[in-house]
Amino acid sequence: EKGGYDYFMLKEIAEQPQAIADTLLGRLSDRGEIVLDEVRLTDQDLRDIDKVFIVACGTAYHAGMVAKYAIEHWVRIPCEVELASEFRYRDPILDRSTLVIAISQSGETMDTLMALRHAKEQKARVLAICNTNGSTIPRESDAVLYTHGGPEIAVASTKAFLTQLVATYLIGLHLAQIRGVMYADEVAAVVEKLRSTPDALRELLNSMEDVRALARDLKTASTVLFIGRHVGFPVALEGALKLKELAYMHAEGFAAGELKHGPIALIDQGTPVVCVVPSPAGRGVMRDKVVSNIQEVRARGARTIVIAEEGDEDVRAYADHLITVPHTPTLLAPLMTTVPLQILACEIAAARGHDVDQPRNLAKSVTVE
Ligand code: F6R
Repeated sequence: EKGGYDYFMLKEIAEQPQAIADTLLGRLSDRGEIVLDEVRLTDQDLRDIDKVFIVACGTAYHAGMVAKYAIEHWVRIPCEVELASEFRYRDPILDRSTLVIAISQSGETMDTLMALRHAKEQKARVLAICNTNGSTIPRESDAVLYTHGGPEIAVASTKAFLTQLVATYLIGLHLAQIRGVMYADEVAAVVEKLRSTPDALRELLNSMEDVRALARDLKTASTVLFIGRHVGFPVALEGALKLKELAYMHAEGFAAGELKHGPIALIDQGTPVVCVVPSPAGRGVMRDKVVSNIQEVRARGARTIVIAEEGDEDVRAYADHLITVPHTPTLLAPLMTTVPLQILACEIAAARGHDVDQPRNLAKSVTVE
């Protein structure tokens, strides 16, 4: 049943190209438009929205963080992302013109369900992104976009995360298209890139051999830090979460620019720092900023594991260990950069002798608040 893999998690990581392709299936027209007829909100409803809130927990929350960058950039309406467990206790400002997007693999996470019930009481429109047909969260939502990732058995979420990203990209592009803020050819250009991600990901998955050796080296580290900027920041948080939950190691993710405001004091001789580097394409301003953050941590003795785009040759000088990923436009990069971090956490956990699919103290779906 594990299809020749040692763990469900590795099988599910390998299934990611197909999971993305399945989530795109039937939702892109030949002309490169987004077709979301299944989302039962009228075009007028979607035009009336003036604010988006995304609520989710854990890995799904990290997908929401990426979505915020994409939605604000493409749709030009404010988008906030919030931990579902905090949302309703804060008395957020919601009304009929607010779209609340609840992201949940299982569709049964109590914190997310309570957040969406609160949103509905306040008359907001609720759209679920969910991987489980007929589960509670989509049943209680006004509309649903299913991720077609197939069943996720391992406790740690992998393919669900990438398909959640794809679903939020589709929603963002759909909103931009309907509201007329992106030209048809701009939408079509992103769609074209989305269509090519399964092949790019297959290529990436075939080049992950050295991550296993790296995992053996890192398995005795007392802490592992992850840094990223822009959409690389949620990727850093996700890499740290995976390592904590699977390897039971101390790990933390930071926005690369925040390090100098305190956390850089954690860095000691040999501290592993995983650095998610943005694409050098375009003006590459963000990429250069992250590279200077890498220099800062190296100056304090860090050992750097750098995730960068193929062809970014200059970054090599700052990497004790370099992992390259195929080129993608910036907003889509998490579909690539997350994957080596999933494998790294899985392999470190296995090297430490842990049950990768069933980490201690954790359940696949958390049905208590
Ligand atoms: C981490 C993980 C959890 C879930 C979170 C939300 O690997 O799996 O953080 O992402 O519990 O679960 P869902 O998406 O089912 O609402």
